[in-house]
Amino acid sequence: MFAALLAITLGCSTTKKNIVATTTNTLSIDRKVDSLLSLMTLEEKVGQMNQYNGFWDVTGPVPKDGQAAKKYEHLKKGWVGSMLNVKGVKDVKALQKIAVEETRLGIPLIFGFDVIHGYKTISPIPLAEAASWDMEAIKKSAEIAAAESAASGLNWTFAPMVDVSRDARWGRVMEGAGEDPYLNSIIAEARVKGFQGDLGEFNLAACVKHFAGYGFSESGKDYNTVDVSNNTLHNIILPPFKAAADAGALTFMNSFNDLEGIPATGNAYLQREILKKEWNFQGFIVSDWGSLGEMVGHGYSKDLKQAAEQAANAGSDMDMESSGYVEYLAALVREGKVSEDKIDDSVRRILKVKFLLGLFDNPYKYCDEAREKETVGKKEFHDGVLDVAKKSIVLLKNDNNLLPLKKQGQKIAVIGALSDDKTSPLGSWRIGADDNTAISVLEGLRKYTGNTLTYAKGADVALGSPKFIVETKINMTDKSGFAEAVNTAKGADVVIMVLGEHGLLSGEGRSRTELGLPGVQQELLETVYKANPNIVLVLTNGRPLVLSWAAQNIPAIVEAWHLGTQSGNAIAQVLYGDYNPSGKLPMSFPRAVGQVPIYYNHKSTGRPGGDTPTESVFWAHYMDVENSPLYPFGHGLSYSKFEYSNLKLSTPAFSTNGKITVSVDVKNTSAIDGKEVVQLYIRDLFGSVTRPVKELKGFELTEIKAGQVKTVSFTIDEKTIEFYTANNKWEAEPGDFKVFVGGSSVTKLEAPFNYTK
Ligand code: NOJ
Repeated sequence: MFAALLAITLGCSTTKKNIVATTTNTLSIDRKVDSLLSLMTLEEKVGQMNQYNGFWDVTGPVPKDGQAAKKYEHLKKGWVGSMLNVKGVKDVKALQKIAVEETRLGIPLIFGFDVIHGYKTISPIPLAEAASWDMEAIKKSAEIAAAESAASGLNWTFAPMVDVSRDARWGRVMEGAGEDPYLNSIIAEARVKGFQGDLGEFNLAACVKHFAGYGFSESGKDYNTVDVSNNTLHNIILPPFKAAADAGALTFMNSFNDLEGIPATGNAYLQREILKKEWNFQGFIVSDWGSLGEMVGHGYSKDLKQAAEQAANAGSDMDMESSGYVEYLAALVREGKVSEDKIDDSVRRILKVKFLLGLFDNPYKYCDEAREKETVGKKEFHDGVLDVAKKSIVLLKNDNNLLPLKKQGQKIAVIGALSDDKTSPLGSWRIGADDNTAISVLEGLRKYTGNTLTYAKGADVALGSPKFIVETKINMTDKSGFAEAVNTAKGADVVIMVLGEHGLLSGEGRSRTELGLPGVQQELLETVYKANPNIVLVLTNGRPLVLSWAAQNIPAIVEAWHLGTQSGNAIAQVLYGDYNPSGKLPMSFPRAVGQVPIYYNHKSTGRPGGDTPTESVFWAHYMDVENSPLYPFGHGLSYSKFEYSNLKLSTPAFSTNGKITVSVDVKNTSAIDGKEVVQLYIRDLFGSVTRPVKELKGFELTEIKAGQVKTVSFTIDEKTIEFYTANNKWEAEPGDFKVFVGGSSVTKLEAPFNYTK
């Protein structure tokens, strides 16, 4: 009866107890949401705010006892609004059927999953994609991930992660776009648009995470305390979130960390004040996994009930897997501790997203077996991820033009367990991909048949979990393969050493205190080097590494990250010059772990000094390592050579509503066509709060033919120089500035300019 009543209220037709809205329905979504809300009991409202993890094999028998039975009962009562970690049309459909046909109101579930960089056909890890600085490719990659997962029943991805991070010890840097707020913002927009598109059947709702501050976990230890200034929060951490909200992201996820002593899940300043009020965000916020319950662990809530009260009052709309809302929220409303208005606001937001996704029109919109079959793993998706994988590779060093490799008559030795690894390139968020499905480096190289290839493993690489590391201790220290590696290297024209981190050594919960090559790989590198120094070091890893020895000794270094399904093909094509590398680092590579956090957009300090050692020690520096990073933000070489000249400003000063056009000539002085990321930075020389020594404010990825000179232009206006000032607002302050243009954050060309109000 209620389903029928609901259908009338919504202007829908019904099938069984199911609600199917007619397409001619003209009620606005807000009105539909209000109508539906008016029919809901308090428990049903709270149910929409409850998200459960996939808890039983839906194709097997109904659970009879324990947690699973309880959750199943909740599902049938309409006390579950969303499920996560259920995938595949068959399973999603079975659960959706229960929600739609067996609950009183038949409200469809929304199904979330961590589709971080692909579903079955895996793209490069997000940090790698960021290195492409190619927004078309990044958007395309998100579109592929959305299409495959939407065809598999999903309608919501917990991505993009837009946490700026300056600390490579933190394992989750692989999931973001690095250390810069501007680059993170542009990428956030591209990824949100890629996932969401026009919310058709091949799109997903995006979930921007982790709001906020998670990337600043103290000492790079995951889940650790975060204590940042308001200045850093607003100028560095929040801009990518704002960009994602402006791009239309439908949902946000809060985070595990506290911020100034308040856990993000219970943080009203972040959720109500900034996101929902200041930014006018209309979607909903989901907690992170159990983060509501973890407020007890933080020592902020005395028990789960109080945590539910604090989270709901702070504006956290959906509880992921803590059961705090479903257990206590209705009682808290009755006790007057949480107002029903707040519950209504949360439920409105959740229902609205479901309407926008079209789940009320067709709860099975994402559940078409035939579509699933023909979509997942499509050839064009493999082409798409190969394209972005090539673009994500960064050529760190290439002395004596060792690269690209000659295609004929060479003896090539390939060394390192990661060269033969078909799982590691998939990274730690592989969701629908099976182990052993990535193209290995060896497989990629073998497609070039003009050379002779020999392979030796040399040594094992460490996998992720501490348990595994303990269990495999012997392998991690085993050097018995060194002799074979040395023999393989001897007499080779070129040695390709594929070293780095296993795919499971970065990601959530995978912090490290050392940033060198794990296990005995560094020793292997040095041993092989003695036998044959003509080495191309190919790194596959999920974070910046400390590569000081390699940078000094190894002639060519290629940063290939974890590149996904097409990894080996992408690497081989770059090594052989069929793709001319164009990637640039989205994070600084330190010289030593002790420099971390290290980032190009640091403050000047009162004692900046230079990088040259002086007699005096009383300036901001280390006694043992110079201040600069080994490889700076924005660095990346090409087989082409680019020269920058002729930096011009249309005017040296501008005022309110004015602008400056900055132009620079970039010449490709080589005989090879190539692509360059032309980067624009500014420095605000003084302000009401201290300002960074450099800030990225624009970039252009541009193709420049051999011998060609291209003039690249940028605009500087008030938006470019705005920041969160001592007045606690975004504004442009009058004063003197510098502009820098070049191929990395270490730029040579600069010019002064001035802004007056
Ligand atoms: C915890 C992670 O922090 C978050 O990013 C992820 O989306 C959830 N788990 C769900 O898997």
